[in-house]
Amino acid sequence: MKKETFKVTPWEVKGDVDYTQLVKEFGVSRLSDKLLKRIEKHAGELHLMLRRGVFFAHRDLDWLLDEYEKGNKFFLYTGCGPSGGIHLGHVGTWLFTKWLQEKFDCELWFQFTDDEKFLFKDKSYEEIQKWTYENMLDVAALGFKPGKTHFIVDTRHAGLLYPIAVKFAKKITFSTVKASFGMTNEDNIGKIFYTSMQAAPAVVPSVLKGKNVPCLIPLGIDQDTHFRVARDVYPKLGFYKPAIMHSVFWPALKGPEGKMGASDENSAIFTTDSAKEVERKIKKYAFSGGRDTVEEHRRIGGNVDVDVAFQYLRFGFMEDDVKLEGIRRAYENGDMLTSELKSIAIKEINEFLKEHQLKRAKAKKDVEKFLWKG
Ligand code: TRP
Repeated sequence: MKKETFKVTPWEVKGDVDYTQLVKEFGVSRLSDKLLKRIEKHAGELHLMLRRGVFFAHRDLDWLLDEYEKGNKFFLYTGCGPSGGIHLGHVGTWLFTKWLQEKFDCELWFQFTDDEKFLFKDKSYEEIQKWTYENMLDVAALGFKPGKTHFIVDTRHAGLLYPIAVKFAKKITFSTVKASFGMTNEDNIGKIFYTSMQAAPAVVPSVLKGKNVPCLIPLGIDQDTHFRVARDVYPKLGFYKPAIMHSVFWPALKGPEGKMGASDENSAIFTTDSAKEVERKIKKYAFSGGRDTVEEHRRIGGNVDVDVAFQYLRFGFMEDDVKLEGIRRAYENGDMLTSELKSIAIKEINEFLKEHQLKRAKAKKDVEKFLWKG
């Protein structure tokens, strides 16, 4: 059979992603058992996204842990492009980030790239500002450590970021940006500059403290390209290269191809979806690894690898490994039907969202607290 083609850029993920090929192309490393053991030694446990390979690759994590073991603590940096609602894929990465913050007692710098989304999307400046605020509520609701968590918004914290970004911009050429992101002469000039804004927060604490601080960036692997371009520049400016941990993509509702994205209402479950809406989306759209007829399903069993409801449980909504294994076995041997599996996923996701929506409503007063005031 002909190999499926796929595409992974920070702005588009298409097709059946071959992670082995991606690891090679991007030049990242798989998380080895040895590294996982080192993380476990410090954290006292392994997060389920590490146990199950959702976070699967890295750059320079060995170095980061060496520094940590020498007493040189690192900070975390991640971000959100505010162009629509927050979906489960975002939440997954950020819950993992929260775990790292707790286990390693880190500061977290959280960037909201309103400039990026304005430049790349066909949306007004005002609409992007609205999403910036809405998205901040979701991040604040996740319960990062107040006092150790700093939100920065690109246009609002330009005074902090811009002096750093121009230094990156001076060392990145248009031809590198063209080659790395597929940009053309017709792209607006803001897009060409943007990578330097995303590179900047990785050194903000170093700049503020006047001494280098190691940085770890948890991200979806589509975001790696910005840092691949910027990594050559960090040492030229006298900074450490940031370490990175990469996650695979959360599957879209409609199937294993592409990723959950905010631009298609029915491909994603949003944090603001009602319980009814979640139920409707999963029942109607979630790609099933079940068979055409109950008789056939009972006889040969379902396929959990392509089953989206199962994958959401595996990616985060079923913490208990033993329970998850039980579901896998029951589905694979035909004892459990698709409707039953979907019901479990609906219940688990809705339990999470109910809590989250309460916290989100309360977060309105926390947002100010998290915004960096320098
Ligand atoms: N560009 C990212 C997005 O569109 C947002 C972002 C900014 C980010 N800085 C980051 C993501 C650092 C991961 C790590 O969602």
